[in-house]
Amino acid sequence: MNLKEALEGKIPQKDAEHIYRAFEIIGDIAIIQVPKEIEQHKMLMAETLCTLHKNIKVVIRKIDEVSGKYRVGKYEILIGERTDTIYKENGIRLKADPTKAYFSSRMSTERERMTEQVKDGEKIICMFAGIGPYPINIAKKRDVSIKAVEINPEATKLFAESLKLNKLKGNIEIFTGDVKDIVPNLPENFDRILMPAPKDAPEFLEIALQKVKKGGIINYYAFVPSEYFADLESDVKNKCEKLGKKVKILAKRNCGNIGICQFRAAVDIQVLD
Ligand SMILES: C[S@@+](CC[C@H](N)C(=O)[O-])C[C@H]1O[C@@H](n2cnc3c(N)ncnc32)[C@H](O)[C@@H]1O
Repeated sequence: MNLKEALEGKIPQKDAEHIYRAFEIIGDIAIIQVPKEIEQHKMLMAETLCTLHKNIKVVIRKIDEVSGKYRVGKYEILIGERTDTIYKENGIRLKADPTKAYFSSRMSTERERMTEQVKDGEKIICMFAGIGPYPINIAKKRDVSIKAVEINPEATKLFAESLKLNKLKGNIEIFTGDVKDIVPNLPENFDRILMPAPKDAPEFLEIALQKVKKGGIINYYAFVPSEYFADLESDVKNKCEKLGKKVKILAKRNCGNIGICQFRAAVDIQVLD
């Protein structure tokens, strides 16, 4: 039974039409959206959700979309007294707090897929590392060395706590600061550069191209209007050539819709020279 069905007869039919079916669960926290038109039912909605999903202990309402440099949304707590939780995916544990640092469980399959690409021994940069879901997924299964860069100090605090929750094969070093300041000053070049922040990645492609080894891979993400998805490979290739690098596009993927006619896309770029 979903929330809308569970509320049948408890709130007027005209209000029920405004209920969003989808909500996100991170650990024992449910994140719901309550449109203004039915704000008066928000507590009933939160309580009903807890009776439907016994594992939910905290319900927070998203009152504004992710914004700003840190990409954090605005929330109000409806049930519970904390906003942090332990989230599990692909055999790892992450300390998350959506009110302090960006995290989405929706990319767990992409993170698993990414891990499958990585080989033991790789030296990797993860730009825009957030609370560490990509680095921790990879280092759990691969004996790699990862430098993870993230500007939000609340995110790197959670990330550091998660390192203690996982037994990893690989090594992770966390840097708190701006990719623009940190990455160009790293002395070595890397086998792989992850750019898991579709809004920011295009602006940072030049830095990634400078720090990747010949033959190395850039895992690039971008938001793409659906009609433009077919042209994405040639667009990324042209961007790289304008920045002075010959590349081969190994793969592209649609990682899910993020709005009307807009995708989150992944592109695996191999740098040839
Ligand atoms: C959309 S979030 C993605 C976080 C993480 N990769 C994930 O998938 O959960 C983008 C992240 O990039 C960080 N960020 C934005 N600009 C940055 C910069 N110039 N240098 C380092 N991190 C940055 C934000 O603080 C945010 O945590």
